[in-house]
Amino acid sequence: MNKSVFITGAVVNTGLGIAHKFAKEGYDVFIGSRDLKKAQDTASKLSEKYGIYSKGYSTKIFDEEDTARIFKDIESQGYLIDCLVLCAANLGIGQEFLNVSMKDFMDVINTNIGWNFMLVREAAKQMIKKGGGSIVFINSNTSYRAVPDRISYCASKSGALGMMRALALDLGKYKIRVNAVLPGMIKTDRWENNYNGCRYALSNYTPLGDIADFEDIANAAWYFGSDASKNCTGAELTVDGGNMIQLYPIVPEK
Ligand SMILES: NC(=O)c1ccc[n+]([C@@H]2O[C@H](COP(=O)([O-])OP(=O)(O)OC[C@H]3O[C@@H](n4cnc5c(N)ncnc54)[C@H](OP(=O)(O)O)[C@@H]3O)[C@@H](O)[C@H]2O)c1
Repeated sequence: MNKSVFITGAVVNTGLGIAHKFAKEGYDVFIGSRDLKKAQDTASKLSEKYGIYSKGYSTKIFDEEDTARIFKDIESQGYLIDCLVLCAANLGIGQEFLNVSMKDFMDVINTNIGWNFMLVREAAKQMIKKGGGSIVFINSNTSYRAVPDRISYCASKSGALGMMRALALDLGKYKIRVNAVLPGMIKTDRWENNYNGCRYALSNYTPLGDIADFEDIANAAWYFGSDASKNCTGAELTVDGGNMIQLYPIVPEK
């Protein structure tokens, strides 16, 4: 039996890129998505391409029983997972502060903090039985620097970063490492059809002149998820072309 990983939000974009990376490295991969069919299809494709075992799960957000069900099923197949990658997120786009309902605010917080808490708790129980493991938060550089009309998302990503550190402290004694990747902008469809005029960001706001490919984030997740980082816990790795360290836009002279 190979080492194994459970990845949330793993049927598209960055999460899918992470699933490919772990499968390519020989891990058996458990896929989480709110859409069972997509999760199962993704799992079949990974198995076929890399010759590993993969299984898809439907995920119910912020549901303790459902979260426990998934890990019970994984264990019933003889696995105790080695790694959990928390990639799914409620993006909370277009939340103009004065008009955000408490429900909309809490949906984002409950998904990005509360549900991740539940997932870590279930995964940690398995990792303790196994004698160790690794938990990787796919966070965001918005945990430090805000973007407009995304109040709950920014708050949730900052909160999740605090939770990552607290977990690293509480779980270290079990040899469970907890770390966070902080992407800046990633080349998703959303980015390609950018909604708020930041299409000049790659040239004007990043010293490296580019934003991240899925593989860039997947490689960082692999670093924290695997033994390559076996003495790292409570750490952050920013993957944003240098976006975080640049104070103002570089506007080329005409
Ligand atoms: N894209 C960027 O520029 C960027 C920048 C910084 C950080 N990040 C972070 O990187 C991670 C991946 O981002 P991405 O842009 O590649 O992924 P994405 O496609 O926006 O979302 C990843 C997955 O999250 C789940 N998801 C989306 N909305 C949700 C909701 N309202 N409630 C629960 N789950 C929801 C979906 O999974 P299912 O539909 O399969 O359930 C989705 O496939 C996220 O944690 C994001 O915060 C992204």
